[in-house]
Amino acid sequence: MIKLLVTGGAGFIGSNFIYYLLENKPEYDIVCLDKLTYAGNLKTLDEALKSDRFRFVRGDIADREFVDALFKEEKFDKVVNFAAESHVDRSIESPEVFLRTNVMGTASLLDASRKYGVERYHQVSTDEVYGDLPLEAKDLFFTEETPIHTSSPYSASKASADLLTLAYFRTYGMNVTVSRCSNNYGPYHFPEKLIPLMISRALNDESLPVYGNGLNVRDWLYVEDHCKAIEMILDKGRAGEVYNIGGHNERTNIEVVRTILRQLGKPESLITYVKDRAGHDLRYAIDPAKISRELGWTPETDFDSGIKKTVEWYLNNRKWWEDIISGEYADYYEKMYSNK
Ligand code: NAD
Ligand code: DAU
Repeated sequence: MIKLLVTGGAGFIGSNFIYYLLENKPEYDIVCLDKLTYAGNLKTLDEALKSDRFRFVRGDIADREFVDALFKEEKFDKVVNFAAESHVDRSIESPEVFLRTNVMGTASLLDASRKYGVERYHQVSTDEVYGDLPLEAKDLFFTEETPIHTSSPYSASKASADLLTLAYFRTYGMNVTVSRCSNNYGPYHFPEKLIPLMISRALNDESLPVYGNGLNVRDWLYVEDHCKAIEMILDKGRAGEVYNIGGHNERTNIEVVRTILRQLGKPESLITYVKDRAGHDLRYAIDPAKISRELGWTPETDFDSGIKKTVEWYLNNRKWWEDIISGEYADYYEKMYSNK
């Protein structure tokens, strides 16, 4: 058995990754370490908690003493770090916690992995480390060689963590890998992000706040495809390498919102254009040639079926997101959108 630490597993992608491994990869024994911030939800892991291959530990990746003790006790073979502050808009309001978790937290995990001889450390980075591409140059894509050029406090903190991970390969010879994925969507996505925000608000017949002119482009990937890619990198990725993950699925924000409205049978009159995000990245577009060539990864879910499955999931799991939006998140929405 492979003893695997998954940090941030009570969040969106981490939880999907845990379910993917429990269902498809019997060789993994999983420990999830999560601080349960506003974005972490233990209810998401209800089913996983029934498995004897899964254990949950609440704690902060930036708490070095705690992390050291956990590594000493568990003797992990592999580590995947999903834990992060992940929302760009929050990073614009309060950058500090992004530095603590995303940078100092990653450093603490790297040090513990090194000290306790972890076989493979994988850092879940993001395509936002490349900055953005012009809207009009449709033939330009992010490759692993594209220079790092960040825009928001979030992406700057993720780039620091990403580069620190690569420094541990070069300096200490640690067996690390890094993945830079495009925008994910699917089940358990926190309703502050574009797709779940629009689904949950449209279902309640509330206005849909589209930033600026709605023409910014994101490259959407169904979350399970991201999970498969990470498992392949963990298993077969080359040490010290970066892998881009994305499925050539670019859409403007307004197209995405209109698709959701069509799926739900709701009117376009719900759309409201609001003040743009500060420093708003124009376009993301990933070239996934390297992971496809080296590891044989290709995405399996196209956007039409992925968005259908996602809308259905939100329809069938109303309690999951209604509990979130009726809690402290209601105050967040009021604070962030009242002056837009
Ligand atoms: P999320 O916000 O849904 O989940 C983050 C999780 O990390 C939560 O469970 C939270 O409680 C936990 N966490 C936060 N601070 C912590 C700390 N100090 N110690 C321990 N746990 C802590 O995020 P997500 O969308 O699932 O993203 C997961 C990772 O993937 C992040 O590193 C993010 O940068 C990266 N990523 C996300 C996307 C995307 O589209 N969502 C795309 C590419 C990369
Ligand atoms: O590309 C990967 C990144 O994707 C991840 O690293 C981040 O963790 C993740 O949050 C995501 O970042 P984005 O900023 O692209 O995602 P978000 O869902 O916040 O916004 C997507 C687009 O929709 C963006 O152009 C801003 C716009 N938007 C967003 C919100 C929340 C709106 O127009 N209205 C909104 O209310």
